[in-house]
This record gives sequence, C-alpha cells and structure tokens, in this order.
Amino acid sequence: MRRSSKPMAKPEPGLTLVGGGRMGSALAGGWIQSGYDGPISIHDPNPSDQLKNWQADGKIALNPAPEPAGILVVAVKPQIFPTILDSIKAHVGPETLVLSTMAGITLDGLAEKLGTKRVARAMPNTPGLIGKGMTLLCLPQGASDGDAADLRALLTPLGDVEGPIPEDKLSAATAISGCGPAYGFLLAEVMAAAGVAHGLDKDMALRLAKKTVEGAGALMMASDEPPSKLRENVTSPGGVTKAALDVLMREDAMPSLMVEAVEAAIKRDRELSGD
Ligand SMILES: NC(=O)c1ccc[n+]([C@@H]2O[C@H](COP(=O)([O-])OP(=O)(O)OC[C@H]3O[C@@H](n4cnc5c(N)ncnc54)[C@H](OP(=O)(O)O)[C@@H]3O)[C@@H](O)[C@H]2O)c1
Repeated sequence: MRRSSKPMAKPEPGLTLVGGGRMGSALAGGWIQSGYDGPISIHDPNPSDQLKNWQADGKIALNPAPEPAGILVVAVKPQIFPTILDSIKAHVGPETLVLSTMAGITLDGLAEKLGTKRVARAMPNTPGLIGKGMTLLCLPQGASDGDAADLRALLTPLGDVEGPIPEDKLSAATAISGCGPAYGFLLAEVMAAAGVAHGLDKDMALRLAKKTVEGAGALMMASDEPPSKLRENVTSPGGVTKAALDVLMREDAMPSLMVEAVEAAIKRDRELSGD
C-alpha cells in the first residue's frame, strides 16, 4: 500500500470501494488515516455523514462516474451482489484486482461473474470495526506475491491479517475467527447470567464478566504462554477455579461442544457457498 503525506491527485486507476457501510467505512477510515496516496472512490447509494464529510474534506470521491479501478473492494451484503452485478462490473478492467468481503461467494464465482481471474476474498470479523480484528485472506492459486502484499496492506486497518490461506480452509477458519466473536460474547453473557443466578446484581455481573473476558484476552495476547498454560497457571489443585473447570471441561462439556459448534458452522458456511 502506498503511503505518503502528498495530496491524493494521481490520474491513475485508483482504489474503489463499493459499499460504504460498517466494514467498508472501517477500511476506508484506515486508508485515509494511513495516508493512502492514490485516489479513493467510494460508491454507496445512501452515503453516511462520515462518507459525506470525507468527500467534503477532499479525502474521497463519493459516487463518481464508474471507471475501471486499480483495486476494487466489494463490501456489500452478498444477497445484493447479483442484483448490482452490472454496476460492479463497470469498475472492473483488465488490470483490476478485485477484493470481496462477501461471505459465501467463492473465488470461482467472483471470477465468473466479474469476468476476471484477478479476484480475492477477505473474511473480516466484527472486532475489525475497532481495528482489533482477524481478517482471513484468500487468493487464487498462482496469484502474485505483489497482489498478496497489496491486499494484506489494504486490510491492516481492520487489525491482523491471516493468509493467503487456501480457499478449502476458509470455512473452518471462518468458523473460528469469523464466528468466534459471537462465542466470546456468549461467554460473557452466560458468565453474567450465572452470576445473577447466584444473587449478583445484573449490571454488576455484566461488568465483571465483560472486563474479565477482555482482561483474559489481553493477557493471552501479551503472554508468550499458550492459553492452556495460562489456564493451568490460575488453577490451583483442589482450588475454586479447578472446581469450576472440572464442570466446564468434562467430557460432554466445553471442548466437545466447541468441536460440535465449529462443525455446524462449517457445514452451514459450505451450504451457503453452494458447496
Ligand atoms: N460487519 C462485519 O463484522 C463483517 C464480518 C465479515 C464479513 N462482512 C461482510 O462485509 C460486507 C459488508 O458488511 P457490513 O457489515 O459493512 O454491511 P453494511 O453495513 O450493511 O454495509 C453495506 C453497505 O453497502 C451499501 N449498498 C447497498 N446497495 C449498494 C449498491 N448498489 N452499491 C454500493 N453500496 C451499496 C449499503 O447501503 P444501505 O445500508 O443503504 O443498503 C451499506 O452502506 C458483507 O458482505 C458482510 O457479509 C462483514
């Protein structure tokens, strides 16, 4: 990704984003902040105030006449993709590299519908909206290292980027990092509910659960130890945490439930992708 403090005025195919919603705006905000030095165009039929402000400040062109992009990022809901195919194709030329964040539309599907083999997929997750995400990147076999590097750089505003990973691993990876934030939210939710069931005030129980999930995550990332070791470190033999973990880790509980849950997510992802 090109970085410079120079104004963006290059008369060359630039970076075009179709879909300036939550994910698209999180990406575009990062590009603007990090000083992407080519032209950025954003297409959205109902632009948010943020998009309008970026346009007023000369940071983006909002809904300009379509032309082939250098890089085209498609961040619309997958359901509307077939209905706006013609307008998306207007941004695709022979040199355009297309990156889609749409779930369930395969590389082959993108290539066929858009008439180019230079396609890629990204599967972000919700924490990407605050720059704390994990985004999976998937490119076709034979894609160049340059394309991979450019796309990784484009996705860094969302947080970490994993890949390129093979497309046949995308469903499993999505079941971990794509769906995973919901597992984390569920953990905080059920911890708080258990506190309430044992007499804690609802708001306090939620504060305790949220901060604990956040703190455990932060400690895990700050530590060189694997999560299993960190767990053992806070589990004294015969102690209070051990009593709880003996329930959570019994044969039919969390570890096997998680395997089953991930399996269900993979199955559904493949169904939605038409595999
Ligand atoms: N948010 C996440 O955490 C997340 C995670 C993984 C993958 N994704 C994927 O990323 C994509 C975007 O998700 P999102 O959460 O950012 O959705 P979103 O907030 O609904 O953004 C989509 C945007 O596209 C706009 N749009 C509708 N029709 C359009 C058109 N013809 N041309 C250009 N833009 C159009 C929508 O406008 P209107 O609102 O007016 O319809 C909206 O602003 C989806 O494919 C989603 O599956 C998102």
